[in-house]
Amino acid sequence: MSTGPPDEHWFNPLAAFVGDAYLRNAFTKGTVQEVDFLVDALALQPHDRVLDAGCGPGRHSIELARRGIEVTGIDVSPEFLELARAQADDLPATFRQQDIRALDEHHGYDAVICLCQGGFGLLGGADDEDVIARLARALKPSGRLALTAFSSYFVVRHLEPTETFDAASGVNHETATVRDNAGNERDFDLWTTCFTPRELRLLAERAGLVVDAIYGVRPGAYGRAQPSLDAPEHLVLARAPQDL
Ligand SMILES: C[S@@+](CC[C@H](N)C(=O)[O-])C[C@H]1O[C@@H](n2cnc3c(N)ncnc32)[C@H](O)[C@@H]1O
Repeated sequence: MSTGPPDEHWFNPLAAFVGDAYLRNAFTKGTVQEVDFLVDALALQPHDRVLDAGCGPGRHSIELARRGIEVTGIDVSPEFLELARAQADDLPATFRQQDIRALDEHHGYDAVICLCQGGFGLLGGADDEDVIARLARALKPSGRLALTAFSSYFVVRHLEPTETFDAASGVNHETATVRDNAGNERDFDLWTTCFTPRELRLLAERAGLVVDAIYGVRPGAYGRAQPSLDAPEHLVLARAPQDL
């Protein structure tokens, strides 16, 4: 069995090193398409309140706020939060340092988004059930959740020589070379928890959510395709019951 993350905030040194060069990654280039899709799928309206869990440098938060949606972004990386705040100007977006494992919000949000391993998926295979329950609790009655998670099917089918997939925990370990804005390179270990659609459905239902759909998606190409062995991510759309 592969060794797990060294500590619970193992992603922070990577975020501190990469800074805004994070936004050069190809997987961040489709933010507008992703937000277009989510606004429609979550039926978001101006002035709705959205929690962006694991917001990173705030690319979805800022794009939602540009549409008049009131966003709170939470993340554990001080550097990413600073980048998010620097984009916010007069937009209705606020950002705070918060571990999703300790999120304790009660029924204040019309929607919660947790995208691109926004904390969930970086927990080293632990706390998944508790974290989904916390995200669910943050929703108003009938509030909606959009969560993406890496696909076990995809990872195993397309396993790279630099990756080790731990079949017991579903955690994929890889060593990735990360480049900062000055072109400096450093190797980082990444531990990404991967899921099947069925696991995600069961987790969401255990958290009291009603699962509307699980789609197979890729960054920048969110859509309503069925999950497949070749879609890298699953997108869960779920909602809180009307009577909480
Ligand atoms: C790959 S980035 C995704 C960021 C953003 N959602 C996006 O789509 O660009 C993963 C983010 O999760 C954050 N993160 C990791 N563990 C977390 C935790 N326990 N609580 C909150 N955020 C966490 C990291 O700091 C990082 O910003």
